[in-house]
Amino acid sequence: MKVPLKAVQILFASAVSSSSSTFAATFVARSAGAIASAFIANNSSKSSTIRKTTSSSSSYPRQGHTMALASFPTIPLRDGTPHPAIGFGTYKVGFVPASSSSLVAGGNSAPSDVGSQVSACDCIGDALEVGYRFIECAEFYGNEAEVGRAIKASGISRDELFLCSKVWTTTIEKGEDAIRAQLDKTLADLGTDYVDLYLIHWPVPGKHVEAYKTLEKLQRDGKVRNIGVSNYAVEDYMELLEGGITTMPAVNQIEINPFLYRKNTIDYFRKEGVVLQSYRSLRDGKAMDHPVLVRIGATHSRSPAQILGRWCIQHGFVYVPKSVKVERMAENARVFDFELSEEEMEELDGLTTAEALDTFKSLYQKCVNRDTTKDGTMEGVKMNITVD
Ligand SMILES: NC(=O)c1ccc[n+]([C@@H]2O[C@H](COP(=O)([O-])OP(=O)(O)OC[C@H]3O[C@@H](n4cnc5c(N)ncnc54)[C@H](OP(=O)(O)O)[C@@H]3O)[C@@H](O)[C@H]2O)c1
Repeated sequence: MKVPLKAVQILFASAVSSSSSTFAATFVARSAGAIASAFIANNSSKSSTIRKTTSSSSSYPRQGHTMALASFPTIPLRDGTPHPAIGFGTYKVGFVPASSSSLVAGGNSAPSDVGSQVSACDCIGDALEVGYRFIECAEFYGNEAEVGRAIKASGISRDELFLCSKVWTTTIEKGEDAIRAQLDKTLADLGTDYVDLYLIHWPVPGKHVEAYKTLEKLQRDGKVRNIGVSNYAVEDYMELLEGGITTMPAVNQIEINPFLYRKNTIDYFRKEGVVLQSYRSLRDGKAMDHPVLVRIGATHSRSPAQILGRWCIQHGFVYVPKSVKVERMAENARVFDFELSEEEMEELDGLTTAEALDTFKSLYQKCVNRDTTKDGTMEGVKMNITVD
């Protein structure tokens, strides 16, 4: 049964608006690291006004109240740009790429799992109605035109949105002209003349440094506000620095959840001033019956998904949950009105096993050449990366 959207919106709005300054102060006292503190400093005075958006389209019933971007907690990027602390992930929304990572990892993706039966346009429309304003996209996800249709139908103004996209390995391998053409396609598909953030999706061996330098040019052209990377190990980042880049990456988007908590890597990027965007924050929905999540959830009367989301937010990572179900979109966003204790955070921090780190390493080594002419080979792949 589909939950009425209006009820979901109210749930989301109350979740964000109940982040009181008392709560924020407690958070500062307990959080370690400059980014987490900055996150709170940036948000403790935020108003949580609920704004009514105007609708210019007949595709969606846009009479509902939605949250303005200014009401969301944000994390400052290195140039001061406020990056929403929560966003909506669009991977496997309405479309499943042929070389999706679960298939690369040896798993399979049943259509019911991946939401391929739900139109991406409808899904993104729901996410916007629920209140998400940061939409996390990629060339690879094959649905940016649908995202663009949903944005247009929503009537939400461009400056209320934070749009991120990523350039895929095949395009990175082809070089500057291909990257320029791809960004133009992404902009046309999304119906905008700039993205807030543009990322290198994977550090393609021998190619990613030049690709990053193209992103620097695109930023100078004004088509991209901030640039960054994804799936970068410490060693990939060092290669960028040695390659003579002039603009440091604003973010690194990597898998982060209690089952893959690579503290040394995270600490390294934070010291470099790189904001961590967490993907697979919900462990791809595969850990919802884990006893620790269930127990901590019961203590707070929250779902396992909300415990995963809260852990992410409390560590100061950008949190990007994905669901094709509108009630889960709202559930996943209700992470700003409760707090995990230090002991609970430590217990969750301790769930990463040596086996999980090994799996991560072999997936990284498969994925950096994925869909390129070197796919399936280890050509140029770094054998020694910082795994933990
Ligand atoms: N840079 C990269 O290489 C990379 C890689 C992967 C992902 N990402 C980005 O990060 C986003 C999030 O990662 P992800 O989509 O892979 O995984 P995720 O958000 O960790 O998990 C998504 C899965 O969890 C299920 N789920 C969502 N909410 C739930 C809830 N409240 N209770 C139970 N199950 C729930 C979803 O099912 P339903 O949809 O059926 O609800 C879906 O199967 C992506 O969409 C993408 O934008 C980036």
